[in-house]
Amino acid sequence: MAHIICVANQKGGIGKSTTAQALTAGLLMKEHRTLLIDLDAQGNTTYTTRTNNTIYTSYELLTGKSTAIETIIKTEQGDFISSGNGLSKLDLELNTIGKEYKLKEALEPVKKNYDFIILDTPPALGILTVNALTASDSLIIPAQADIYSLQGIGQLIETVNVVRQYCNPDLIINGILLTRHNKRAILSQDMTEMIEDTADQLNTFVYKTMIREGIAVKEAQANRQDLFSYALKSNAAQDYLSFIDELLERLKGECNNG
Ligand SMILES: Nc1ncnc2c1ncn2[C@@H]1O[C@H](COP(=O)(O)OP(=O)(O)OP(=O)(O)O)[C@@H](O)[C@H]1O
Ligand SMILES: [Mg+2]
Repeated sequence: MAHIICVANQKGGIGKSTTAQALTAGLLMKEHRTLLIDLDAQGNTTYTTRTNNTIYTSYELLTGKSTAIETIIKTEQGDFISSGNGLSKLDLELNTIGKEYKLKEALEPVKKNYDFIILDTPPALGILTVNALTASDSLIIPAQADIYSLQGIGQLIETVNVVRQYCNPDLIINGILLTRHNKRAILSQDMTEMIEDTADQLNTFVYKTMIREGIAVKEAQANRQDLFSYALKSNAAQDYLSFIDELLERLKGECNNG
């Protein structure tokens, strides 16, 4: 059965899509069966993975107009569900009882076909992110090492707690991943303490690996290639691979414990 990972943080531009894409490509390189789902109306991941112009998208999936099997696009880069225009109005459109469970229910029939399902979410705490959190086993929070980025995680905690209380008590926060790290900016003592405090409040941890800022990331996305095919030796690609190793180690530990 697939392990479903939600990549979320309501703050914009902190590396959610980049992380979801690199995580999927890296897991595929390690021969895991993957499905990447773009739940953001902006469609950044859909653009980079060249999965636009499909008949069905995550919008049809969430509104019950298509099944997962019909919506999945199979490519050499793994399986995808693209983002659709309707997603931006979903908060208004989905207003029935059980609206939080649409994604979870839709994925049930295909969970057995994958080792990992990765969810790229929008920069908001609306119904899309709640659906993603409800469907997931783990949450990864990308964040930048700056005060505003860390303050935002507090709001995310509140949403996670509500989702745990009403929809998904088993959701595990599988770490904070520091992204877009500039190695010339040495982390101050204050900032290091604040990052650790934030992780403590969430009852989680910060990954040892920080993803360094590097031009290869933007170039790969503009070329619509995954980071590893585009620049395997780049700092960011190497960092994402060590992050994936850390994540897989953690997940193995959790399986053994539970
Ligand atoms: N390690 C990195 N090095 C250089 N640029 C990066 C890195 N990570 C992300 N970026 C760039 O930062 C921008 C924002 O990243 P990304 O789109 O992944 O963030 P996001 O959280 O998904 O944004 P949004 O909230 O808008 O969905 C993009 O232009 C991306 O190319
Ligand atoms: Mg994004």
